[in-house]
Amino acid sequence: MVYQIEMAIISKILLKWYAENGRVLPWRVKPKDAAAGQSPDPYKVWISEIMLQQTTVNTVIPYFKKFIKKWDCIDKLSYADEHDILAFWAGLGYYARGRNLLKCARELSEKYDSEIPNDKKTLLKLPGIGEYTASAIRSIAFGEREVVIDANIERVVCRLFKIEKPINQSKKDIKKYASQLFPKHYSGDFAQALMDFANAVCKPKKPDCNNCLISRYCLSLKLGLVENIPAKPVKKEKPIRRGFVFFIKIHPNRFLLERRPSEGILGGLLGFPTTEWEVKKKEPTLPFKANWDFTKKVVTHQFSHFKLELEIVLGDKTDPKFDKSKYFVVEQQNFDLMSLPTLMRKVYTKAINL
Ligand code: ADE
Repeated sequence: MVYQIEMAIISKILLKWYAENGRVLPWRVKPKDAAAGQSPDPYKVWISEIMLQQTTVNTVIPYFKKFIKKWDCIDKLSYADEHDILAFWAGLGYYARGRNLLKCARELSEKYDSEIPNDKKTLLKLPGIGEYTASAIRSIAFGEREVVIDANIERVVCRLFKIEKPINQSKKDIKKYASQLFPKHYSGDFAQALMDFANAVCKPKKPDCNNCLISRYCLSLKLGLVENIPAKPVKKEKPIRRGFVFFIKIHPNRFLLERRPSEGILGGLLGFPTTEWEVKKKEPTLPFKANWDFTKKVVTHQFSHFKLELEIVLGDKTDPKFDKSKYFVVEQQNFDLMSLPTLMRKVYTKAINL
């Protein structure tokens, strides 16, 4: 057991480390700037925390900057078209985040004067905001005392206090120790200190224990267990779903896209037409009459709950007979590959070279 006094020392060391070494990030106000009177913008904190769910800081930075340029406040965001948000979100993945962000902005503008509330209960009722995000917003944007726990913080806490069971079985213990570790004041800075420290020092692989300022308090290091903690959970094999994707060229330099149905995976996003994605691959129903070439070339993509394998079928269409309300004709030259989700970008890159 580490005593309360040691908890206070550890948090002090990490806060000092953060002031000197914490990353400069576009949504962040570092302690020096806070001392000079700057305060964080709750809108930016909210947007950043939504983007940072399931996505790394380095990937988020350019998306965040572009987003804030385009939608610089809650009111502007609340008027956005969902298709524009989804096209923007292409490449970030987990599109429900984008959809919920828009729903949330609309609710904020209708019910909360276009302000982010700082009350926990209210935050938790908003679309896309769960326990982690609510506590991150409250502490980082409003300076409220919260115990913020994300996957990186879980790793540091598990190592520091030698929590040996896999993280999914240790949530209660992690919460208990983290609650003792988080200081009464500056919990937003402390959360961000832990996140940066987890990224720079207490890394998932090859943690830099030689340069760790709190190594003398680390129970895992004392017992030579750092590399084994957190214990890896037993990973379930993901099921595979299969189907066909149609890359349909229209002479001379055009091809067809469709907007996917709004419900379901990649709902509402643009993409190449596909069959259903099923555990058992079926004979495909072809979209219309054309010269079809079953290439046997497969594009794979990992979703959170399954792996997808799509076989590319090339279609050559010289006559313009197809359902114009269903398919979009896109000029290859004017086409922005970045507006497609990652799966569809993979399809394009593979199909264009066949
Ligand atoms: N991951 C999630 N939120 C973060 C933040 N505010 N700073 C750094 N990494 C984060």
